[in-house]
Amino acid sequence: MNPTADVSAPLSVSFPAPLKVAVIVGSNREGRFGPVVADWLLGRFRERDDLTAEVVDTADTRLPTALSYSPPPEVTAELAKVTPKLAAADAFVVLTPEYNHSFPASLKALIDWHYEEWRAKPVAFVSYGGVSGGLRAVEQLRQVFAELHAVTVRDTVSFHNAGASFDDEGRHRDPAAPDAAAKVMLDQLAWWASALRDAKAVRPYGS
Ligand SMILES: Cc1cc2nc3c(=O)[nH]c(=O)nc-3n(C[C@H](O)[C@H](O)[C@H](O)COP(=O)(O)O)c2cc1C
Repeated sequence: MNPTADVSAPLSVSFPAPLKVAVIVGSNREGRFGPVVADWLLGRFRERDDLTAEVVDTADTRLPTALSYSPPPEVTAELAKVTPKLAAADAFVVLTPEYNHSFPASLKALIDWHYEEWRAKPVAFVSYGGVSGGLRAVEQLRQVFAELHAVTVRDTVSFHNAGASFDDEGRHRDPAAPDAAAKVMLDQLAWWASALRDAKAVRPYGS
């Protein structure tokens, strides 16, 4: 023990900044159910102090399916609404319904208009749909994000027959299981996001 140490001096402990998570609402369909699921998920973020959520809603952005290396001004303006949010995110939660055993075109357009923004970041999934609960859409998205150098976390949250699972106020009728599943998923997302943020600070990905 150092006899000259000032034991009354306050300890200087720095906590890491909360991880920034972009919550992507994949459905832009008229009359969509997606916002109900998004609101439920945002409630799970409010229970945590290690993650902050920012919504990226495909319904707020009109991205064409025709890609371009030199998009016209109207497309550049649409990209300006979303690209900075994706770039700033440490991690993503993708909310996807299932359309014809896959995920919506609106979500694919958002993914394909970007590249660097996904790299070396973790992606978690919340899915919903009819009997499948969107699980087939999620398995396809894992292949898409692997191509983009993103890592997908194992555990997901899945709502089968989603419309019947929530009441008219958007509250889940039996929230214990999905709330617990969300905690497991977000814990995994936070681990990967923290690990990758630290690793990239030491050595940029791909260098
Ligand atoms: C075009 C279309 C295709 C669908 N295909 C499937 C399907 O293959 N499997 C399934 O479980 N549900 C399917 N559904 C049901 C949707 O997953 C469900 O209605 C979901 O709430 C849609 O999400 P949204 O309301 O946010 O757009 C389909 C719905 C639509 C509109």
